[in-house]
Amino acid sequence: MLKGKRILLIVAGGIAAFKSLELIRRLRERGASVRCVLTDAGAKFVTPLSLQALTEDRVYSDMFSLTDESEMGHIQLSRDADLLVVAPATANILARMAGGLADDLAATVLLATDKPVLVAPAMNVRMWTHAATVANVETLKQRGIRFIGPNDGAMACNEFGPGRMSEPEEIADAIEGLLVPAERPLAGKRAVVTSGPTREAIDPVRYISNHSSGKQGHAIASALAALGADVTLVSGPVVIADPPGLRTVHVDSADQMLAACLAAGRIDIAVCAAAVADWKAARPSGSKIKKKAGMAPPSLELTPNPDILATLSKPGPQRPALVVGFAAETENLVANAIDKRRRKGCDWIVANDVSPAVGTFGGERNTVHLISASGVEDWPTLAKGEVAMRLAGRIALHFGQPPKAEAAE
Ligand SMILES: Cc1cc2nc3c(=O)[nH]c(=O)nc-3n(C[C@H](O)[C@H](O)[C@H](O)COP(=O)(O)O)c2cc1C
Repeated sequence: MLKGKRILLIVAGGIAAFKSLELIRRLRERGASVRCVLTDAGAKFVTPLSLQALTEDRVYSDMFSLTDESEMGHIQLSRDADLLVVAPATANILARMAGGLADDLAATVLLATDKPVLVAPAMNVRMWTHAATVANVETLKQRGIRFIGPNDGAMACNEFGPGRMSEPEEIADAIEGLLVPAERPLAGKRAVVTSGPTREAIDPVRYISNHSSGKQGHAIASALAALGADVTLVSGPVVIADPPGLRTVHVDSADQMLAACLAAGRIDIAVCAAAVADWKAARPSGSKIKKKAGMAPPSLELTPNPDILATLSKPGPQRPALVVGFAAETENLVANAIDKRRRKGCDWIVANDVSPAVGTFGGERNTVHLISASGVEDWPTLAKGEVAMRLAGRIALHFGQPPKAEAAE
């Protein structure tokens, strides 16, 4: 619940602005009060009247209104809020925030605030993946701005990909996560989560990789952070956004992934959800391997990659108290996973079937089995976020700190 919480919602000029109306309703249902700042472009998509009716407050747009400046200036607007939310956040407002512009009321409030800021980007996939937007997002994240989404999906511009604004319910959940002191059974614990695929260079333009999307690993990192752990997510190349509320280190190869895990220092929990390539090119070429007329296809000599799970599981003073591996198998799932737990020396294995027919890679749901010294647990098919929450709950239980829901079971 958000009872008594005050949200300043900045509505910018994107087609997703219609969802902001729904967001206001969801926030008010949860007990929050919402006040809106509407950009000029935003007003082309939703009317001040709609926002005013739903918030039961006036809507602020004009920085130079004398009345506003005496009664409710730009500083006061942010002072009166517990959290600033930009939804939809256009490419334009992200650029203005990153550049420190204060050229309208919305940008000025965002520059003048010392309150936490959550943004929900919404834009065409090409705008979202444009180098300028990528750099602006990186800058804002480094400054502590929280992001929710964007999601993958069909967009109003008839394209498909990342850029779709998160759903109002998801944004309301993220707001609640930021404002309501949660159950934090893993507070004080440090965790490293690996996620996504690795890329092993053959030459500067070609690589060996796999279909891992990073969705499951990223969800686990978020779930551990939600339970209070201090999380470092070591992510291979993925197209999904960095989760808010934790540190993300981006890597390409297995060597880099291992180095990033070790650089995290002493940790209590390691969850190795990344699909690390088993092999890499023995001698990657420093320049592009050229195809020449009459030349036989080159043969590729492979050499094993470092075994990140086995390395982290090695007994010793640096070993995390709990090491969880993942087994992605297409046959003999449970038997192979039991064997993997023994070979690697990790504590638990989460086994999931990645046969193409099951659609785990890139999909939204996962059917897993949790394998530990005490046996095999079969979990029902769940959304990847639910698998993550369940696993994080189990981890909290392992440390003797059950989250409330687990304790009640
Ligand atoms: C029909 C239409 C839809 C638009 N949708 C988006 C959008 O979803 N995301 C975005 O970043 N810009 C979108 N734009 C462009 C923005 O409205 C434009 O960049 C504007 O300057 C944003 O201003 P603001 O960030 O101050 O609100 C759209 C423009 C039009 C005409």
